[in-house]
Amino acid sequence: MNKRIALVTGGTGGIGSSICRQLFADGFVVVANYIAAEKERAHSWQISERAAGRDVHIAEGDVSDYDSVVVMMAKIKTDIGPVSVLINNAGITKDGVFRKMPLENWMDVLNVNLNSVFNVTRQVVDDMLAEGWGRIINMSSVNGQKGQFGQTNYSAAKAGMHGFTKALAQETAAKGITVNTISPGYIGTEMLMAIKPEILDQIVSTIPVGRLGKPEEIAKLVSYLASDDAAFITGANIAINGGLHMY
Ligand code: CAA
Repeated sequence: MNKRIALVTGGTGGIGSSICRQLFADGFVVVANYIAAEKERAHSWQISERAAGRDVHIAEGDVSDYDSVVVMMAKIKTDIGPVSVLINNAGITKDGVFRKMPLENWMDVLNVNLNSVFNVTRQVVDDMLAEGWGRIINMSSVNGQKGQFGQTNYSAAKAGMHGFTKALAQETAAKGITVNTISPGYIGTEMLMAIKPEILDQIVSTIPVGRLGKPEEIAKLVSYLASDDAAFITGANIAINGGLHMY
């Protein structure tokens, strides 16, 4: 059997990089998407991954822009092949209390975190149906489950991702395609650098496990959901948050 192709959006970032490494170790052909503004960083990321023995591909495209995604996905299909595993991982924060939130911060977060899921998934689902096998994993957040002070935009987008998961899971369940959501808690990545240290310390003090999560811990869960063994899990939202939110 040919190796399956896995696409990780925002694949050169904190959690994305760990997911790429894990899926490569699992035997997938891995494609990491990045946005044009990160071109230089993405190229040096690829060089260091290759130096470490991981021959990963990179693909430029703005997941918040439908036309950009169409072009990127056509290129991936021609150059590498059809995608069988999609990790909708690209995400941003633009935190601020609602009464001070400019429209731009609402739109940007909804476009990158939620509309991207439509844009990218729409391009891969037909190939998965044709193959009779597929894995779609949406990287949401604990803050989509519980809401978070200062994140009306992010919480709305992340909650929306799981609504998408549940609906598409029903449409594809009989066709060999699973669709699931992972909801990480606070993970030690660059995204957390935007939080003031004193606020972050306060948040960490409320995590029962007593620490931030590690990107590798998220990647292991992605690995399982992407495997043949996880064929009976679909429409699920799996929390991985150190006990920060239990439901
Ligand atoms: N609950 C209730 N009140 C709170 C609060 C909370 N959690 N946090 C702050 N406040 C209060 C403050 O005590 C202060 O009250 P007073 O005005 O009475 O003094 C007020 O809210 C602060 O209001 P400001 O408008 O001045 O807020 P700010 O601009 O200083 O900060 C913020 C707002 C930037 C949103 C800041 O609260 C913050 O960074 N919060 C953390 C947001 C967060 O957790 N982001 C997660 C990013 S990582 C991520 O998203 C990954 C993932 O998936 C987990």
